[in-house]
Amino acid sequence: MKHLIDIKDFSTQELDALIRVAKDIMKHPENYAHKCAGKKLATLFFEPSTRTRLSFEAAMYELGGHVLGFSEADSSSAAKGESVADTARIVSCYADIIAMRHPKEGAPLVAAMNCPIPVINAGDGGHNHPTQTLTDLLSISVEKGRLDNMTIGLCGDLKFGRTVHSLIAAMSEYSGIKFVLISPEELKLPGYVKDILKSKNIPFEQTASLEESMPKLDILYMTRVQRERFFNEEDYLRLKNSYILTPQKLHNAKEDLCILHPLPRVNEISTAVDSDPRACYFKQALYGKYIRMALILKLLEVE
Ligand code: NCD
Repeated sequence: MKHLIDIKDFSTQELDALIRVAKDIMKHPENYAHKCAGKKLATLFFEPSTRTRLSFEAAMYELGGHVLGFSEADSSSAAKGESVADTARIVSCYADIIAMRHPKEGAPLVAAMNCPIPVINAGDGGHNHPTQTLTDLLSISVEKGRLDNMTIGLCGDLKFGRTVHSLIAAMSEYSGIKFVLISPEELKLPGYVKDILKSKNIPFEQTASLEESMPKLDILYMTRVQRERFFNEEDYLRLKNSYILTPQKLHNAKEDLCILHPLPRVNEISTAVDSDPRACYFKQALYGKYIRMALILKLLEVE
């Protein structure tokens, strides 16, 4: 039995296979409409979510399965002091697969170690978000036609932004990738993620300037400053508007740049950018449903 806790739980071959299945689902959804008949997905969300939870639920419905769960910690027995391990063990009596989001780093791993059904990490604190990375890989593969040989700019909160950490781990496995890490000093990429780049000799530069980096980028991955992870509100207020992407800032960008954002956006992309053909972030949210369908099929070992 397999879980998805860290994107490195899957080999590049497995990631490529998931992307192939997701693309086939996009073309022939009718072939998948009953694949999970009689199966149940539990979504255990101890932290806010729109896209991740609802795309997981839509994914399971579109596979013909059922969904149960909760969307806030206060409505579960966590509010009475139940441990994550016990909650997961109990839920495994009622469901076939779990998608869990939790503010504590490592909570989905604890769940996986304590229950007999597949567990998917749907975001653990400021650590990892592997299913957002699956979404990002499918988005890049569809929009650029490849996953290798490109320069990826990651901009914003690289410290607390868990989607960035998982995306770097995944993209580091493809050849010809370069990273431009664009952030204020206080929100730089953590050392443990930078070590992945160093150990694989992947070229990267760190800068505070989005404008100077723009011309070389094939992908621009914008992120929100993660207010909920700050120790004090003053720091957040000082840093929250560090980067705001506007049409003017795109004047020297490549014609075929692909702009991604895991969403939700706060201020970091002006709505005037939404009509630019290079803005792919709303399509990205749709791709998230298809890749989660492929993931559920894989973990439930459905043919
Ligand atoms: C991201 C997350 O939860 O980390 N959202 C998402 O799942 N699409 C990004 C964010 O909240 O900034």
